[in-house]
Amino acid sequence: MKIDQFEMERMQSTWENLVEMDMSESGVRPVTLRELGEMGLDLDAILDTPLTYSQSNGTIPLRENLAALYLGATPGHIEVTNGTSEANYLLALTLLRDGDEVAFEVPNYMQFWGMPKSLGAKVNCFHLRIDQDWEPDWDEFDRAVNPRTRLVYLSNPNNPSGSVLSHDAMQRIVARCEAVGAYLLADEVYQGAEIHCARTRSFWGMSDRVIVTSGLSKAYGIPGVRIGWIVGPPDVIAECWTQHDYITICPNKISDAVARVAVKAENREKLYVRTRSILQHNLPIMQAWVDSFGGFLTFREPRAGALCLMRYRSTTPSYELCERIRVNQSVLIVPGVHLGLEGFLRIWLGGKPEFLTEGLRRIGLELAGEASLPA
Ligand SMILES: Cc1ncc(COP(=O)(O)O)c(C=O)c1O
Repeated sequence: MKIDQFEMERMQSTWENLVEMDMSESGVRPVTLRELGEMGLDLDAILDTPLTYSQSNGTIPLRENLAALYLGATPGHIEVTNGTSEANYLLALTLLRDGDEVAFEVPNYMQFWGMPKSLGAKVNCFHLRIDQDWEPDWDEFDRAVNPRTRLVYLSNPNNPSGSVLSHDAMQRIVARCEAVGAYLLADEVYQGAEIHCARTRSFWGMSDRVIVTSGLSKAYGIPGVRIGWIVGPPDVIAECWTQHDYITICPNKISDAVARVAVKAENREKLYVRTRSILQHNLPIMQAWVDSFGGFLTFREPRAGALCLMRYRSTTPSYELCERIRVNQSVLIVPGVHLGLEGFLRIWLGGKPEFLTEGLRRIGLELAGEASLPA
C-alpha cells in the first residue's frame, strides 16, 4: 500500500526535538503524572503493575467511563485506540474500499487526506470559508457529499482555524449524510478546549450515521499516553476491533490506567478548566503581537484549541517562510500549506506565557523583513 508522506507530521517529527522552540503543537502544555496522581491516579499501584498486554479494545472500566460521556452509548459502542490518529486510521481501514469517495473538510488536519487515497478512495474537498465565519461552502459541500460518498470527515472544533460549527450547520451536514447514506466521521479531539465559548456540542446521537473520534491529546493535555477512542455503531466498532488486532493489538496498559482517571467526570472538568485558563491567559498576548504588525498579519480568534491560524500579506510560500523561521530562529511553526491553506501560518498558543512571548519575538524578527516587502 503506497501512501503519500504526511507532510506536517513528518516536518514535526523531523524537527520538533531539535529546535529550541517547538511552536508547531496544537494542544496545551501537558500535565504530569504527579498532577494526575493528585487527581486520584494510584502511582504506587502503577509501580507494582505487571506489564502485561492490556484489553485490546480498552478495559471495560475505561470503556464504561467513556460511554458515560456519550448519551446512549455503552461499552459496545467504544473502541479504545492508540491516539485519535489510530482511531481515524482504523475507521479508514474498516470503511473504505477502492473506488469509494470521501468528502474532506479543508483546512484540516491532513490525515484523512492521505489515508483514503492510499486505499484507492477518491477525496473530494469542501472548504470552510474564512470570510463567512468559517461556515462550510455549501455548494462545494453538496457536490462533495454525493451518492458515491462513503464517509465525510471533519474536525470540530477545527484544526487549524479553531472554529466551531453552528448547530444549524451540524444539522445540515448530518441530514446530507443521511440522504446519501454516508457515514459522518466527526473528529472531536479539540472538544473541551473552548477558550471563551460554551462546550462544543458533539455530533454523537444526531444520527446512526455518526461516528465520533477523540482522545486525550488536546483538551485533556495528555498526548504522551497515546489514548484515543472511537464511538460508533456496534457493528462498525466490532470491525474496527478486528483491524486493531492486526495493527497494534491493544493500547498500552499504563495508558489505559491513566485514561481511566483522566476521563472521570470530575477530573475531565478539572483538566478542561486548566486548558481554558492557559488559553485565556495566552490569547491576549497573541492578539497584541498580531496587532503590532499593523495589518501584515490577520487572524480570527480561535474559539477552541491551542492553535492560532493567521494570514500574512506576502506572496512568499508558507513553507519557505516557516523554514526561514526555523533555520534562523530555531522556532518551529506550521505552514498553511500543510493544512490545506497557503498564505497562512499556524502558531501554538498552549505554552507558558514566557515561552510564547519569546517565541513570538523570534518569529517577529523574521516577519519584520517580510512585512517591509511589497505585498
Ligand atoms: C484533528 C486532529 N485529529 C487527530 C489528531 C491526532 O491526535 P492524537 O494525538 O490523539 O493521535 C490531531 C493532532 O494534531 C488533530 O489535530
